[in-house]
Formats: sequence, C-alpha cells, structure tokens
Amino acid sequence: MDAMDFRYKRYSDIEAQAVFDRLPAKRVGATDYAYMKEVLDAGFGNSDRCDMNVRFELAFAKKLGAKYAVTCSNGTVSLHACLLAAGVGPGDEVIVPPLTAAATALAVVYCYAVPVFADVHPLTLTMDPEDVRRKVTAHTKAIIPVSIYGLSCDMDPIMAIAKEFDLIVIEDNAQCYLGIYKGRLVGTIGHASSYSFQGSKHMTTGGDGGAVTCDDKAYMTRIRRAMGFGYPTIQAESNAPRTVPREVRQDWEFRRHPTFGYNFRMPITSAALGLAQLERLDDLVAARRIIAGLYDEVVHDVPWITRQFVPQGYESSCWAYVCQIDETMLGATWRDFRRKFVELGGDGLYSAWYPLHLEPTFRQMNFYGDAYRAPNFHPLYKGKVKSYQVGDCPVIERIQPTIAQFKTSFQTYEKAKQQAQALADTVRYFGG
Ligand SMILES: Cc1ncc(COP(=O)(O)O)c(C=O)c1O
Repeated sequence: MDAMDFRYKRYSDIEAQAVFDRLPAKRVGATDYAYMKEVLDAGFGNSDRCDMNVRFELAFAKKLGAKYAVTCSNGTVSLHACLLAAGVGPGDEVIVPPLTAAATALAVVYCYAVPVFADVHPLTLTMDPEDVRRKVTAHTKAIIPVSIYGLSCDMDPIMAIAKEFDLIVIEDNAQCYLGIYKGRLVGTIGHASSYSFQGSKHMTTGGDGGAVTCDDKAYMTRIRRAMGFGYPTIQAESNAPRTVPREVRQDWEFRRHPTFGYNFRMPITSAALGLAQLERLDDLVAARRIIAGLYDEVVHDVPWITRQFVPQGYESSCWAYVCQIDETMLGATWRDFRRKFVELGGDGLYSAWYPLHLEPTFRQMNFYGDAYRAPNFHPLYKGKVKSYQVGDCPVIERIQPTIAQFKTSFQTYEKAKQQAQALADTVRYFGG
C-alpha cells in the first residue's frame, strides 16, 4: 500500500460556509416542496401522474454515470434484486465483507444463498482483495464490495478476480455518492451498483429508499423485473415504450408472470424528494468532505489515532470520519475517550458495527428458525461454510473495538466547527 500521507482537501472558510449556506435547513428545501406539491396536486391514480420515478431515475443515472437506474424501497432490497437477477440462489456463495451494515449479508441470506466473509484491509477498512481471492470457491456466484464510510474498495483486483472466475460484482454504495476510484466514479466499475436513501445517508427520500444503477441492458431488465413482480412489460429503461399493446395487456388470456419477482418499488412521494435531493448532491457530499477535513486537521498527526487510509487516487464521500484509537499509546480506553469527547461537547462517537459474522444471528444461523434450515445446510449447497466463527476474519476482529466513527452529517458549518473543536479539546486532554 502506498504510504503517502493523504490529507483531505482543505476548503477555505468562505468556500465551506458557502456550501453550507446553499443547503436548506433540516434537509428540506424549496424544490422538495415544489416536487412534492406537484405530486399532490396531480393526485393519485394507478400510475405515476408526474413521472416522478422516471424523472428521478433518469437524473440519478446521469449523475451517477450509469446508463440505467431503477429506484426501489430501500438499499437492502436493491442488493436483493441484484442478487436475484444474477441468478443467486440455494447452493451459491456470495463474498461480502464483515465490516458493513447487516443488510449486505442479509440480502444474500434472503436469496437463500450462503454469505462468505472476506476480511478487510487493516488501514483502508475496505474488503481485502487478497482475502476475496482466498475465499473464492466453485460455489461462488457474486462479490459485494462495500464502499465503507464512503471509501471505495480496491476495485481493479476485485474485478480481475470476478473476470477470472466469472462472478458478478455488485457494488454496495449505500454510503458512497460521487466517490472516486483511480479517476473513475465509484459505482461505475462493478456490474451493478446499489444505493440507499435511508435517513443517515448523503441524500434521503424521506426515511427510506434505494436505487440500483447498471450499464448492462439485459441485467438491468432482470433487476427491474425482480423488483416489479417479474412483469414482462418491464424493460431496462425507465421510460421504455410499452411493448405489449393495450388490447393484449387487457385480454383475459394475458399472462403477467413469466418470471418471479417481488414488489420493491419506490413510492412516488419518495421519488419526488429524491429528485430534489439529487439536485443538491454535490453540496451534500461536499459538506461531509468539509467536516471530514475539519476533523482531519485535528488528528492527522496524533500518534495514537490512525485515520481510515485513503490511498492516492481515491476520494471518499465521507459518510463518516473514521479512526482507530490505540489504547496502549493513549493510556486510556476507547470508552474513556468517548466519555471525554461527549463531556467536552462532542456529539457522541460511534463504534464500528460488531463484526457481522459474529453477530448472534450469524453465529446461531437462526435466519429461518433453526440452524439446520439455514442456506448453509440446503441440500444443494456443497460448500464448506457450515458455521461462522471467531477467527474467520482476524483483521476486523482485532481492530473493530478500536474504531471510532465521527459524524459528518452536521447541517451547519458552525456545528461542524464546534464538533472539530470538541475533538481537538479531547485530543489535548489526552496529551495529543
Ligand atoms: C453499507 C450499507 N449497505 C446496505 C444498507 C442498507 O440500506 P437500507 O437501510 O436503505 O436498506 C446500508 C444502510 O443502512 C448500508 O450502510
């Protein structure tokens, strides 16, 4: 790994203030109201009278650098649909990281396939391609690299492995909007890319929402159909012309379900909010980067704090600002550090998620009741993953208790500066 000392881009106070000034209070601006009003004024019928989903999808695809986009109800079903559309099912394995929201691995279990955990790199905290390679078996069907905290995985080796073993790569970019990987927009590298608009994310559709982007027409058609009851009328394009004439669709002999699918669709009202939020996505991402830069100024040369390493050529979208705290060097515990930070005005800091393979539901494999009903014991599954154990992913198991996740979601520059000051005071207290 290139050990260059990366520093987040510094914004001048004037530039930073201007970004925050452009962002509406409480994350709701005039356009959110305008698009929502448009929907409400149009009233509701069987279909979207304002074409909000189509408009949002077209704009989203354009902004995220993809040919096609489809909206859906959250960032978990978006992964689920991508897996189903890739043909993932009983007997298959899917490689996922152990440092992620549970959704990444649960989507695999929802397909009745077996999640296989590949460890993370100790500095970038993203999936380690070398461990991915070690975890590939004859049963592997897909890989889900996660841009954790907004930082892309090292996609070149992951795509090379996928090519070698004919695997589908679904990028989980729930936390990454407009990230950069070696000059490329994150989300344009895998076969499909999944996004979440849940409230903690850069942009929200009012609580929950999700989307998938994809360049492959056939794959996107299958993804959309997996999200829409398998209707044969559904095509890859958001605004595809009806290919089945009305008199055929309305005929008693018309069959609607040649293929299987769920209903994962996004409500029109959510799409209206998504469209409005998308229009300010540059500023939403910039604001988080600015906040990360403020923290960075405080901790970049503190010897007992190691920031998530951002390799050269990468740009994180800074969903959170993440460090590892060396308790021995600090001479205090992670919990002491957190307590002091809160005492000095910090808004709290979060730990990393517990290593996912060691969460009780994975240890007990109680997904469908008893462990013997788990995908790992399906008669079609000929692989070796029959349990999830301590030692499966030693890197994350070792470093997870040291990870400190600072919020980058503050809505005013003033609040962001106050939080960076609280961190500076905490660091000074501990002699940093
Ligand atoms: C990395 C990651 N993947 C998937 C998800 C699932 O998204 P959602 O909550 O929209 O279902 C989330 C967020 O919650 C996430 O952070």
